[in-house]
Amino acid sequence: MAKRILIIGSLNMDMVIEMKAMPKVGETVLGDTLTYVPGGKGANQTYAAGKIGGNVTMLGCVGDDSIGEILIQNLAASGANTSAIRRVDGKPTGTAVIYVNEEGNNSIVVVSGANFACDVAYLKEYDHLIAETDYVMLQMEIPYDTVFYAIRRASELGKTVILNPAPAPLPEQIPEDIWGKIDYFTPNETELLKLTGQDILSMENVKKGAESLIQKGVKHVLVTLGDKGVFFHDGKNTEVFPARKVEAVDTTAAGDCFSGAFVTGLAEGKSIADAVAMANLASSLAVTRKGAQSSIPTRQELDELMKHN
Ligand code: RIB
Repeated sequence: MAKRILIIGSLNMDMVIEMKAMPKVGETVLGDTLTYVPGGKGANQTYAAGKIGGNVTMLGCVGDDSIGEILIQNLAASGANTSAIRRVDGKPTGTAVIYVNEEGNNSIVVVSGANFACDVAYLKEYDHLIAETDYVMLQMEIPYDTVFYAIRRASELGKTVILNPAPAPLPEQIPEDIWGKIDYFTPNETELLKLTGQDILSMENVKKGAESLIQKGVKHVLVTLGDKGVFFHDGKNTEVFPARKVEAVDTTAAGDCFSGAFVTGLAEGKSIADAVAMANLASSLAVTRKGAQSSIPTRQELDELMKHN
């Protein structure tokens, strides 16, 4: 039986606006379509793990509104356990406004709402879920104190900790003791550069950034590079795992799909290389479809693809 996965993070309803080009500051543009899609980095990763067959539970908060119910129901349909998700009185469910341009690239603004009620007291109430799981995965759309508490608690209990540092904080916002408690760190290249105080996007800086995180104590760094694949560093070896070439229509949640599929692969007992390969294929399917959770493939689709790649 696959090991257990606990994902702690955000749930948002995404308002996706497709347009030719994003507006510049002070400019008005006309959008082509407006769609509502279940999202939120925590929920997207949970949804991906659930659809791909992981034994996954989510901790997170929605508001006491109908949108929160829709998000929970959609997530439960992936196979994930949603019974501990909290409905918070008097708070709106998190919302994200997502602009997607003609090239399929996005810009996102999140209005956190109930996600900020995902506090340490709530996690303490569900401490048994941390104690019972094997993998704990987090992102950074809930209060930082909660993220750091969960990492310390999971590490103390000997769990495997995965942090997807999105949206990326400033380097000084991560307490020094946290780095050594992270088993797998999965930033994209922009997040990695921000976290390591660099401005210029280059492979050389990605390597430099990953190396500096290893020096701080992170055990494995996996930098998602979009169509260039994934850069891996574990302190001994570095490697680039290539991406499958596809025509992207919307890259929203591609990183979430990667993280959710990666942890599912690890929980199934796959090697890191095989879990990355599966996660790369999962996100190559996700970018060919629109939206966040609406873009995540099923295990059957993934298995089909894995036979030929
Ligand atoms: O990573 C994509 C996600 O970021 C969206 O679903 C949006 O809700 C924001 O959390």
